[in-house]
Amino acid sequence: MSNIEQTLSIIKPDAVERNLENEIKEMFKINGFTILKEKKIQIEKSEAEKFYKVHETKPFYNDLCTYLSSGPIVVMILQKENAVKRNRELMGATNPKDADEGTIRKKYGISIDKNSVHGSDSIDNAKIEIDFFFKDWKFLI
Ligand code: CMP
Repeated sequence: MSNIEQTLSIIKPDAVERNLENEIKEMFKINGFTILKEKKIQIEKSEAEKFYKVHETKPFYNDLCTYLSSGPIVVMILQKENAVKRNRELMGATNPKDADEGTIRKKYGISIDKNSVHGSDSIDNAKIEIDFFFKDWKFLI
């Protein structure tokens, strides 16, 4: 049975700054993801704080929000069968040091903070995160 999902992906400031946007998008496409929507934006720190609210008690929260708002990012809605899980596999471990060969973070990530991409970690969070950046977007399924 087909299980087409949508997930939110962000190409983070470190990757946009190094002109990796197209290479990373290509990795999504080669791996069967369709980019349904995308936009390049820069967000305020207050918006980053809302986006990463789930991490607000973590010691790295402040730096994380400063970082996400430090430069342009590309936010995308990706679609594929089991997109949430498949995207997390393609991204690799949060810390690029621990990421498997062939993953985006292994290839492009610099550190746990500058790990080049973000992806929703569950279907529920994918809905919340897509709604955060693409308010007018209606879920297809
Ligand atoms: P991301 O998938 O965007 O979700 C939260 C981010 O916090 C994570 O990627 C990392 O870039 C960042 N981060 C910084 N320190 C840590 C840590 N110790 N554990 C998990 N995430 C961290």
